[in-house]
Amino acid sequence: MVFPVECAVDSDAVLQALQSGDYARDHLRQALLFRGADQERLFALARERRRRAFPEQVEVRSVIELSNVCQQGCNYCSMSKESGIKRYLMNQTEVLELADYLYDCGRRVLLLQSGENDAANYLRYVTGCVREIKQRHPELTVILCMGNYSREQYQQLRDAGADRYVLKFETSSPDLYARWKPTDTLAERLKCMEHLLALGFRVGSGNMVGMPGQTMNDLVDDLLFFGRYKLSMMSCTVFIPGDNCNYRAERMGDVELALNSIALMRIMYPHLLMPTTSCLEQAKPSGQYWGLMAGANTVTIHDGTPERLKKMFPIYTTKRFTPDRSHTARMVERANLTLATGALI
Ligand code: 5AD
Repeated sequence: MVFPVECAVDSDAVLQALQSGDYARDHLRQALLFRGADQERLFALARERRRRAFPEQVEVRSVIELSNVCQQGCNYCSMSKESGIKRYLMNQTEVLELADYLYDCGRRVLLLQSGENDAANYLRYVTGCVREIKQRHPELTVILCMGNYSREQYQQLRDAGADRYVLKFETSSPDLYARWKPTDTLAERLKCMEHLLALGFRVGSGNMVGMPGQTMNDLVDDLLFFGRYKLSMMSCTVFIPGDNCNYRAERMGDVELALNSIALMRIMYPHLLMPTTSCLEQAKPSGQYWGLMAGANTVTIHDGTPERLKKMFPIYTTKRFTPDRSHTARMVERANLTLATGALI
């Protein structure tokens, strides 16, 4: 991350501009660098926007990490195809039992996440899981996060009953994308996003902050880029140099930049669901709580993936923090919010 030398900032003028809907590049760039009292005012504006668009509630999801098999070679990811980790695929019966259990616990939003694997039998497996879960529990919202597929494959997942899909663009810069994800292109990713939108999924997308080679300009570009698509969810993670990834020797991303990005996303796009992710907690004590204070309104609880498999799904790192129910309940209460009983969109 390259930091520019900034001249004196008139934070009142920037906040006023943001409040009135003026998202000029210069304002965004200055707001990203707010710290201390200015940052608090930025967060307060974000919370005000959230309050107008949503009830004072947080959507809760449970995640089931179906498989860590992945055909992508992302430099920042500890489960990329070259990472040499042991691979697993959960069996379908176990997935269905877990879904029943989570439903009985009151959960109404379920995230099924995995590495990217376009083998026909894998798609059949996921399609089968989704169809059976939706048949048993039609009022359970099913979100998928499993990467790039063809339009026909997305169609199968949609026909099976999947409601939403998370596909992050990661960065709006084609050059950075190619550097971080040498086995994919931004153009391909965006084509996938367009298929998902055309098929009627509610789509989430997002970026990563603090990645190698990324500049402030790139972050401003990302904030504006979100506006090109009709998204229902958006997210921002802070870069964690996981122990099995090619970028393990790089510096961790600046968590304050990520929190300010979340706040600006909420200010610019108030009606979208935004998660406070567990990598924020990894980068700063109570980081996930700060995500809520910056305007986020969803949280994922890791009560779906069996304990024996959790360490085998190192999205950020094998030492990652996986929030449980009591941690989540405490954090939501501390942020003066309540846990929603169902889906918020
Ligand atoms: N640091 C931060 N975010 C990451 N992601 C994956 N690996 C990392 C990492 N090391 C994010 C990417 C991906 C999502 C599932 O998690 O944005 O799309």
